[in-house]
Amino acid sequence: METYSTNNNPSVVSDYDVFGQSIMVRGSEALKMLGLSRHNLERCVENGYIRKIASNDVFLYDETDIQKFMNTKTYHEMLNGVVDKRNSLNDLTGKEWIPETKSYMFQKGLGASHPHAQIEKQHPAPFSFQDIESLVKFFTKTGMSVLDPFGGVGSTAKACELLGRICTSIELSEKYHNLSIERLESEVGKGASKHHNLINGDSCVILPQVASNSIDFIVTSPPYWGILHKQDQKVKKNRVQYNLDTQYSDDANDLGNIENYEQFLTILCDRIFLQCGRILRKGKYMAIIVSDFRDKGDFISFHSDLIQRLNKATLPEGGVLSLQGTKVLIQNHKSLHPYGYPFSYVENIHHQYILIFRKK
Ligand SMILES: C[S@@+](CC[C@H](N)C(=O)[O-])C[C@H]1O[C@@H](n2cnc3c(N)ncnc32)[C@H](O)[C@@H]1O
Repeated sequence: METYSTNNNPSVVSDYDVFGQSIMVRGSEALKMLGLSRHNLERCVENGYIRKIASNDVFLYDETDIQKFMNTKTYHEMLNGVVDKRNSLNDLTGKEWIPETKSYMFQKGLGASHPHAQIEKQHPAPFSFQDIESLVKFFTKTGMSVLDPFGGVGSTAKACELLGRICTSIELSEKYHNLSIERLESEVGKGASKHHNLINGDSCVILPQVASNSIDFIVTSPPYWGILHKQDQKVKKNRVQYNLDTQYSDDANDLGNIENYEQFLTILCDRIFLQCGRILRKGKYMAIIVSDFRDKGDFISFHSDLIQRLNKATLPEGGVLSLQGTKVLIQNHKSLHPYGYPFSYVENIHHQYILIFRKK
């Protein structure tokens, strides 16, 4: 067999050689492509998945065989392991499951100039559909149901569409509701919005109509009281300059427009989250994404106030919500502001909390 090295300098070892129709690669390149151990590469050869030949004292592997093998279930299982038969929570293997149990994650995003960030940008406080994807993947199996009672511009619905889950998303503002439909149709595919239940309405009214024990996972981010009304002038000015909303709506049913903080917490917990708990199937999870914030000189620990009210709270038709963890969502990309300098400690809040409750 004739060997054609792709490298013109014979003293330098090339990773590629051509044998007739086949491109053959050296072991190091094959291992790089596959991400497997040498032992597993040899198992693939023994089992007839990848052709191996000896040439000029080196072993070479068929690149086309490698590429074909990488599309097989056997390869996926070799790389990630298999899904445990007893796993009724998600479709993850042990190797995929364990890293997801870390108590922190870094916020992902498309970047402001990405074509698929343009609808999202019209909302003053969207979460990243990629972060929600990780949660949906962990807390559901394909085909399961997900609810977001504060749907915004459909980030949860988009994550569900991409992962083959069914989303019920409730949003008070007609503008954001319409944008969420447009987002699914334009960013995921024509007809995508029809796979989900996108509702324009007040969750305080709609949730009591949803059947008990009917949803597999709830993930949401509520209004952070009236924080958008109080926001930093600089932040507000940046959005106004681009004709973008600085608050959700003027609607009296918008929870972001309740003036008193205690009253806001009561409505949010009693009328939204305890109802969500009733709707959740037994043993299933609810993830609430929130941040702490400042109100004038006070630091409001919103996440801790929610935990105080919701942990061990009794649900309308029985059962309790039980806190399982608080995952920190790190927002490393945010700009730093010189708040308080040079007089006092005023925090740049660059993280959110994901409060994870389970219905017991
Ligand atoms: C933090 S945002 C959610 C953003 C959403 N996660 C996204 O990525 O687009 C909160 C949303 O709750 C909506 N909202 C406020 N009060 C509501 C209510 N009573 N019922 C339903 N939605 C409400 C607001 O209009 C706003 O879009």
